Amino acid sequence: MDSGWTEWINVLFRFTHVVAGIMWIGNSLLFTWMELNLVKPEKSRDPDLLGELDMLHGGGVFHLEKRLMHADAIPERLHWFKWQSYTTWITGFVLLVALFYTNGSTLVDATRSTLSPSSAVWLSLAGVIGGWIVYDLIWRSPLKKMSVIGLVVSLVFLCGAAVAYGTVFNGRALYLQIGAMMGTCMSANVFFHIISNQHRFMRSLKAGQPHDLELGKRAKARSLHNHYMTFPVIFLMLSAHFPRLHAAERNVPILIVVILTLMLVKHLMNTRYHFKAWLAAIIGAVIAAALGIGLLLQPSASAAENPDIAAGKALFETQGCAACHMQGSAQIAPSVHGLYGTMQELTDGSRVKVDDDYIRRSILEPQAQIAKGYAAAMPSYAGRLDEAAIARITTYLKSLSPPSR
Ligand code: HEC
Repeated sequence: MDSGWTEWINVLFRFTHVVAGIMWIGNSLLFTWMELNLVKPEKSRDPDLLGELDMLHGGGVFHLEKRLMHADAIPERLHWFKWQSYTTWITGFVLLVALFYTNGSTLVDATRSTLSPSSAVWLSLAGVIGGWIVYDLIWRSPLKKMSVIGLVVSLVFLCGAAVAYGTVFNGRALYLQIGAMMGTCMSANVFFHIISNQHRFMRSLKAGQPHDLELGKRAKARSLHNHYMTFPVIFLMLSAHFPRLHAAERNVPILIVVILTLMLVKHLMNTRYHFKAWLAAIIGAVIAAALGIGLLLQPSASAAENPDIAAGKALFETQGCAACHMQGSAQIAPSVHGLYGTMQELTDGSRVKVDDDYIRRSILEPQAQIAKGYAAAMPSYAGRLDEAAIARITTYLKSLSPPSR
């Protein structure tokens, strides 16, 4: 199913994406940290000095000063920070296209929606671009002066998008979609507001015009938004590793709890200079969120009726099966929904009935019979799962197929 080139794009672009992302977000966190730690010297005669800071690193002290700039004193080597952000977005978009858009069925949850693969691609793209347009309009409107209301409106829009995509997309694609939408807003903030305002600022400075504080303020507001989006976006980009969450029945409310909690945690981290109980508040928020997510992970009434199915489902998720056998997506491994009882074609051309025995062999000796169109990527669970566990998983897989088959 995977031609060679997508694998190479995956390796090269994913690596670059992660490295550029670390550089960008690392810078963003460090700059915010520096802003918060700047101290204005008490007896400074220099009106342009906004604050200073000493940092120990590499066997010396970095003495940092933040100051207003004047046209006659523009540093010769002035560093700008933008390519980390652009590189992250460009490589991320290439990955989205190569891994999901070339095969739109990897986005759709076949058990929830009959949307065609190409419509799914357009729907995803519309969210990535449309999400930015809506967010930007909100913060260009009069709401920009009412930051709390602007924040609430933005979050309502984001949660609405999560609910809407949740009706169509499988869990992994849903989490990535929301991550890509937020990441695009962050990069577009850098491109359309932060860097462009810096250009405008430098031009007006060189033209000898007085400081336009409004430009700086607007750029700073967008940087602050980016700052609050960093934790949720990192989480969502890593979410393929958290199948218990994204593949959960209530993956949408879980997503919302995670985003809100991580934004709150970032906020509390920033209040630590004037809010004494910041650490206790973070621990409290994380515990409350964990309890909430624990409740959301409880099986719904229908699954709870049969404890073996529920136990099998829990094993399927905790043993990592769900990370490859994703709900509604057959990208990495065959979907197990509706699998039981069907005839499976193998790479050697033979066909075999999917019954208890075949599932048992698939788990213990996955390399013995490879499903057609897939790599022999499944690890053996021999020694890791006992017969009782295998039986429970089998019961769960059976429950995913209509009994008539
Ligand atoms: C690293 C990814 C990965 C993990 C983890 C994984 N699988 Fe698989 N699985 C695959 C791939 C790829 C195939 C198809 C190739 C093959 O048949 O071996 C497969 C095939 C299967 C099949 C046969 C499906 C068919 O259509 O013939 C079953 C059943 C199965 N896996 C169950 C499980 C169970 C149960 C677990 C957890 C205990 C699990 N898998 C964990 C990747 C994975």
